[in-house]
Amino acid sequence: MRLSRIEVRGFRNLADGSWELPAEGAAILGPNGQGKTSLLEAICYPVLFRSFRGSPDAAVARFGSSGFQVVADTGVDRLAVSWHRDERRKLITVNGTTPPRLADAVGSWLAVAFRPDDVALAAGSAAERRLFFDRMLALSDRGYLRALGRYRSALAQRNQALRARRADMAEAFEAPLAEHGAPLVRARQQWVEAHNAGFAEEVRALGESADAALAYAGRGELADPAAWKESLAAHRPRDLARGATSVGPHRDDLVLTLGGKRAREFGSSGQQRTAAIALKLLELDTLAEATGEQPALLLDDVFAELDGERQERLAARVGAVAARQIFLTAPRAGELPRTLGLPVWAIRDGVVAP
Ligand SMILES: Nc1ncnc2c1ncn2[C@@H]1O[C@H](COP(=O)(O)OP(=O)(O)OP(=O)(O)O)[C@@H](O)[C@H]1O
Ligand SMILES: [Mg+2]
Repeated sequence: MRLSRIEVRGFRNLADGSWELPAEGAAILGPNGQGKTSLLEAICYPVLFRSFRGSPDAAVARFGSSGFQVVADTGVDRLAVSWHRDERRKLITVNGTTPPRLADAVGSWLAVAFRPDDVALAAGSAAERRLFFDRMLALSDRGYLRALGRYRSALAQRNQALRARRADMAEAFEAPLAEHGAPLVRARQQWVEAHNAGFAEEVRALGESADAALAYAGRGELADPAAWKESLAAHRPRDLARGATSVGPHRDDLVLTLGGKRAREFGSSGQQRTAAIALKLLELDTLAEATGEQPALLLDDVFAELDGERQERLAARVGAVAARQIFLTAPRAGELPRTLGLPVWAIRDGVVAP
């Protein structure tokens, strides 16, 4: 899967324009604050139709502009999205027609991005890793995406009832919670089982000597919808006191260990970065397996933070798949591994020069 052309208007500091994108991708070079991350963000925007930094759309729109627009051509589909500041409304079209739901627009363009902040996958809170699961599994399986939406809405309703001290109402949302929560727990557990060995391999291949492992931390029995009734009933008094639901996939975690110790607490920052990159590489493989397409890979300032040997190892790993389009950024060409050999694009003050 490749993006052949992208057009942006009113997007962060990027000058309005459109670019034909090389099939192999590009290395985007430029000093700090010129728009490198903004360009990757534009390329990634039509994956989930939101910012990969998690910025609100109002912050994506250029200062003082009335809104922004991104048009992305994959060669198969044309995805267009526009956001208007006044109406606070996002319009999405796929090949000229508006899909009934956002979920129907998702999946035509797949990319996995690794940004410096993504070290939080290993070093940050459980919420980061739940987001990792949900993004990856939703993009690989529409059933997961649907269940996630329904689970979140049942959870919000149950929590609202709990805050209103309405045990009867809270109980009414427990059946949908079980129905849509169980497949989330099951899919995440299955993913962990299937990728535990792969994680260890990726971490080793990136140059780390400690043995790495993954484990799902949560109530495993909740993979079965029948187990929820008892668990929710047992926690109801406590949930009523807290005004929040204390069991379910929204509380679970993915534990990463290196040499048997939690990477989050005991890993060095280089080890945490390595573990986080390994997770992203597994995400690439997972999406490729699920969709039969090679997602693009976006690496923002990643190489500058790795030592020379790890740079070459990562470059060899990601460059091995010929069908993969890679976009990466760096302040200087000297900070890139030579082996990737991507076309170089320069960016200055938001102006892109292929
Ligand atoms: N909504 C916006 N409208 C206009 N400019 C913005 C907006 N949001 C951010 N900027 C500016 O865009 C510029 C480019 O930001 P960007 O993060 O793309 O830089 P970068 O080239 O990745 O820099 P670095 O090497 O430091 O990561 C910054 O000066 C930033 O302040
Ligand atoms: Mg940047």
